Amino acid sequence: MRIPFIAGNWKMFKTEEESVAFAEKFKELYQGTDVRAAICAPFTDLRALKEAFEGTAIGVGAQNVHFADEGAYTGEISVKMLQEIGVDYCIVGHSERRQYFAETDETVNLKLKKLLEGTISPILCVGESLEQRDSGKLFDVVKNQLVEDLKDIPSGDIQRIVIAYEPIWAIGTGRTATPQQAEEMCAFIRQTLIEMYDEETADQVILQYGGSVKPANASEIMNMDEIDGALVGGASLKAEDFMAIIDF
Ligand code: PGA
Repeated sequence: MRIPFIAGNWKMFKTEEESVAFAEKFKELYQGTDVRAAICAPFTDLRALKEAFEGTAIGVGAQNVHFADEGAYTGEISVKMLQEIGVDYCIVGHSERRQYFAETDETVNLKLKKLLEGTISPILCVGESLEQRDSGKLFDVVKNQLVEDLKDIPSGDIQRIVIAYEPIWAIGTGRTATPQQAEEMCAFIRQTLIEMYDEETADQVILQYGGSVKPANASEIMNMDEIDGALVGGASLKAEDFMAIIDF
């Protein structure tokens, strides 16, 4: 049984004070829900969010991490630093990081391995561009990302990784993939995991869809067989909207 998991990705929004105001409201709304939920916030908000969500089941995630234990890497944050705050999840390989910050499949792979040495569960993002979809390369692109990003990661660790299918053309554009398009790719991702590992392992992996998820389209996406959750950008910034998605 895969328990639905909905994560918010705040990107570079919300100061610490704003994050606490959100958390106070959101934890009231979330009470009694059995859908797993988390907020992936800027580094500066993480400690305050952990404190605000204490005693609830709401998880807290980072949006990036470095793959070295420590070192002369100005501006970077290590896994150990996140773990000391009690961070539960970390997004890895978001298309904005691949596009604007030179994230490669190689660094994504190193980051996943470093996270898996510790206690934080990675949320790995994969997805094709519009050009790649239109030229029919979408499945090759996503398969290649999975093979490279998960290289040398043993099956015993795979269940700890959440995989988010985020077609780049649907992120922040208001242009959501149809539930069928999202389902088709999630089924392909699960099939690829069966080929790379085995059916039992692949069956346990939580697959999320991300890209312009909002209260109005959450239920049709969440009701697809292979889609177990959502990674929500813009609509996770307002507690009521995020809760409406969780209540799909
Ligand atoms: P969006 O972002 O929901 O604003 O499209 C999704 C994401 O980038 O994770």
